[in-house]
Amino acid sequence: MTYNVSSTEGTEQVARGLAERLATLGRESAYIALMGEMGVGKTAFVRGFASYFGISTVKSPTYTVVNEYLGEASIFHFDLYRISNEDDLYSIGYDDYLARRGYILVEWSERIAGEIPEGAIYVKISRTARDENERIIEITE
Ligand SMILES: Nc1ncnc2c1ncn2[C@@H]1O[C@H](COP(=O)(O)OP(=O)(O)OP(=O)(O)O)[C@@H](O)[C@H]1O
Ligand SMILES: [Mg+2]
Repeated sequence: MTYNVSSTEGTEQVARGLAERLATLGRESAYIALMGEMGVGKTAFVRGFASYFGISTVKSPTYTVVNEYLGEASIFHFDLYRISNEDDLYSIGYDDYLARRGYILVEWSERIAGEIPEGAIYVKISRTARDENERIIEITE
């Protein structure tokens, strides 16, 4: 699916829609690999996704690598900007998170392409030349 949005709220709404769809399907776990350049709206996407589960505390975990939010679902929010390679994943307990029930959303998942599990949902966000607040959001399941 490809969406075209014109505001931060638009991106949050698309993310909320994905959360609603997964929850409605009874899917209690999913791995969502976020891709897109700096400042494009990856954290905004996580914020919208989490809002569906009553979570309103999403902040970029740049310094902690992973934030856990517990609401009507568990959300594990990774930001791998500072990860230099796939070996670094072990020290943050990545495998343990994969085994847990909940939604895993990963910013800068491009950095660990080889460690993205099968069945992951890919979300690619890009800017357009038309408007600074416009984004194309491609969701591939
Ligand atoms: N359509 C849009 N969708 C998302 N964010 C938008 C949009 N239009 C403008 N913005 C702004 O762009 C910024 C996106 O910031 P955000 O932290 O979500 O990006 P990010 O991809 O997580 O960045 P980083 O790579 O640093 O983690 C915010 O300031 C947001 O308000
Ligand atoms: Mg971010």
